[in-house]
Amino acid sequence: MVVAQVTRTDVRTQGAEWSPGEAAELDAAVWRAPSVHNSRPWSLTLRQRAAVLREDPAARMQHDPQGRDQRISCGAALTNLVLAVRSLGFSAQVEVGAAGGLVSAAVNAGDPDAPSPREAAWARAIAERHSHRAPFARKRVPELLREKIWDAAAGHRCGGRWIKSEAEALEVSRMLGRSAGAFHADVEYDRELTGWVTPEGRSLRSESGELRGLAAVGLTAPSTHLPDEQVLARLLHDESVLLVGTRGDRAEDHVRVGQAVERAWLEATSSGLAVSMMTQPLHMLEIRTGLAERLGTSLIPQAIMRFGYPA
Ligand SMILES: Cc1cc2nc3c(=O)[nH]c(=O)nc-3n(C[C@H](O)[C@H](O)[C@H](O)COP(=O)(O)O)c2cc1C
Repeated sequence: MVVAQVTRTDVRTQGAEWSPGEAAELDAAVWRAPSVHNSRPWSLTLRQRAAVLREDPAARMQHDPQGRDQRISCGAALTNLVLAVRSLGFSAQVEVGAAGGLVSAAVNAGDPDAPSPREAAWARAIAERHSHRAPFARKRVPELLREKIWDAAAGHRCGGRWIKSEAEALEVSRMLGRSAGAFHADVEYDRELTGWVTPEGRSLRSESGELRGLAAVGLTAPSTHLPDEQVLARLLHDESVLLVGTRGDRAEDHVRVGQAVERAWLEATSSGLAVSMMTQPLHMLEIRTGLAERLGTSLIPQAIMRFGYPA
């Protein structure tokens, strides 16, 4: 069942419990959220007029010992869950908490309240959203769209930062190159990713046989050769690259990143853009703090998003 096709009158019931149709809507919206390695590292419990998302400790991955990616994934699922509750015609109160190193989020449906046009557009985009793993066209993303995406990412203690100037692109390129070098030495990480690097990712090879551009940074594997710093800087500058960051670096902040990422992703999808994301380089504290310092931003970068038109 597709969230986008639901209207209040279609499925809303007066009862104190979710109807089977409503439950299916909530489930489907959460299921469609982006997640690290498509692991969907959460559980969803529906009770009365509430929905609770819990981080699943069993889904923790070797490459993500701190659970950063897992919590970002939960944040993305939370955005979808809230949009689904709003699409069903309820106000939504959200409470995010962390206990024992695991995050959870409760969404309580309140009074009847129609979604805003923007919320409705984001909810419609849930079913269309996907990761773009092919090259982007050379066509630039218009400034107006970039502003809308930036605005969608903005939230409480989190937000986006576009890479704009050539100098900024070079700084980012240096930091990404440094992190990728470190990950090359991580055999366990390489082993895990070997099974994950997509055929599409592999096909992003340039004439010299290297994985091309930013994809090479996000998909570092034993056979990956990173592009030269200057080449990467040029690619960064030519593309629309958004760093999504937070004011803090605690478990709840990682959930906020995921929420912001998904809002930006849905905004872009509803405007016909293709999107891909990566977090691997930002697992390293040195890279997060180094990037924030070099870009002169108070946001700690947590996710790298690329926006463009499919080639
Ligand atoms: C925290 C996080 C990290 C991710 N890292 C990468 C990445 O490094 N490279 C990549 O191609 N996709 C990455 N993704 C996208 C997931 O692989 C993708 O969401 C998942 O496979 C489901 O596919 P879909 O987005 O097309 O629905 C990431 C997603 C999340 C939430």
